[in-house]
Amino acid sequence: MYDFNFNTTRSLRVVRGGAGQLADRVAELGGGSALIVTDAGVLRSGVMDGTLPGFARLGLRHAVFSAVEADPPEAVIHAATSAVRESEADCVIGFGGGSSMDVAKLAALLARNGQPLAEAYGVGLATGPRLPLIMVPTTAGTGSEVTPISIVTTGEGEKKGVVSPLLLPDLALLDAELTVGLPSHVTAATGIDAMVHAIEAFTSKRLKNPISDCLAGQALRLLSGALHQACRTPTDLRAREDMLLGACLAGMAFANAPVAAVHALAYPIGARFHVPHGLSNSLILAPVARFNLPVATPLYAQLCEFVVPGATGTEQQKAEAMIAYLGSLAGELGLPTRLRDVGIGQGDIAQLASDAMKQARLLINNPRDVTERDAAALYQEAL
Ligand SMILES: NC(=O)c1ccc[n+]([C@@H]2O[C@H](COP(=O)([O-])OP(=O)(O)OC[C@H]3O[C@@H](n4cnc5c(N)ncnc54)[C@H](O)[C@@H]3O)[C@@H](O)[C@H]2O)c1
Ligand SMILES: [Fe+2]
Repeated sequence: MYDFNFNTTRSLRVVRGGAGQLADRVAELGGGSALIVTDAGVLRSGVMDGTLPGFARLGLRHAVFSAVEADPPEAVIHAATSAVRESEADCVIGFGGGSSMDVAKLAALLARNGQPLAEAYGVGLATGPRLPLIMVPTTAGTGSEVTPISIVTTGEGEKKGVVSPLLLPDLALLDAELTVGLPSHVTAATGIDAMVHAIEAFTSKRLKNPISDCLAGQALRLLSGALHQACRTPTDLRAREDMLLGACLAGMAFANAPVAAVHALAYPIGARFHVPHGLSNSLILAPVARFNLPVATPLYAQLCEFVVPGATGTEQQKAEAMIAYLGSLAGELGLPTRLRDVGIGQGDIAQLASDAMKQARLLINNPRDVTERDAAALYQEAL
């Protein structure tokens, strides 16, 4: 008997060069004045240049807030919320990676509803309404364009999430041309993040359903087929398109069948050591997958069939082949593979394990229970 909900962004527009019509999309939503939320790196890369003339053409006002930082702290959310109010924007656009999109989502909410950010953390605690919201991802990626989630770094060592259907955008605009200039190491790390979304959705203990499975499987097929090529030949638009769509499908999957211990153990790495989100996930991925294997062998065997079409062997062999695939990915793509490569030492493990336990929202989804002692052993394995 099925019993599940499935929610996603109301409208998706997937087209090369589509960002050139961003202003038209704002007008369709009834907006007359947009605030574009982004970071300095995206602005410098020039990917937004083709977008801005459209606003003048349609007689719409626009302003750009470019002070987003990676793994955004609370101060950035407050600054973006003030920028929405000061610019009198009636439409907010997240233009960039997960950091820019997450900030835009919260600014659209908080500028309109006046709710203090601290009261919105958690699941279903945000109150509406919010301003119209458009997402334009430039990494492939977090899938934030189709998730009801924003992640904020709060103080030292902790990341908190606001999870609410109010954060599902009105429109996601997927234009692969925007991702062509993404540096190879960012392509690799954000691509592995997207794969982890698909893997954790597919193996999630809670809320996994036939639609999320279908999306996670297809996401993994696209991502594993295109990731090496997108890193090797950044201008290969076909590979870029597969990455962007794969990341979006993975986002749809985990928005409904939530991520688990890989993310729970990755967050403290990102928050304490300023390691980019995708890389944090990548560093802890294989140890967690190996830990989960005894209770999730059939699921990992199915995942193997998505990354190695026509894979043969027993269920156990296919599951182990999947773990081996995940274990070799980061090295093949030229990313750091050990925690010590990013400045983490033996003396940090106890603190990381203690931090990871605070991610109860995520740990409850893991196919196998994770104690603090397990978490420490997993960090040790990744050291
Ligand atoms: N809301 C969600 O559902 C969700 C899911 C997973 C992760 N996240 C959050 O998303 C954030 C990570 O997002 P991310 O991995 O996309 O990275 P990011 O947004 O922090 O961007 C990483 C870097 O890439 C640069 N960049 C982005 N696009 C570029 C382009 N096209 N060309 C050149 N440079 C470009 C940026 O300037 C930045 O320096 C974290 O805060 C994480 O917690 C959110
Ligand atoms: Fe993620």
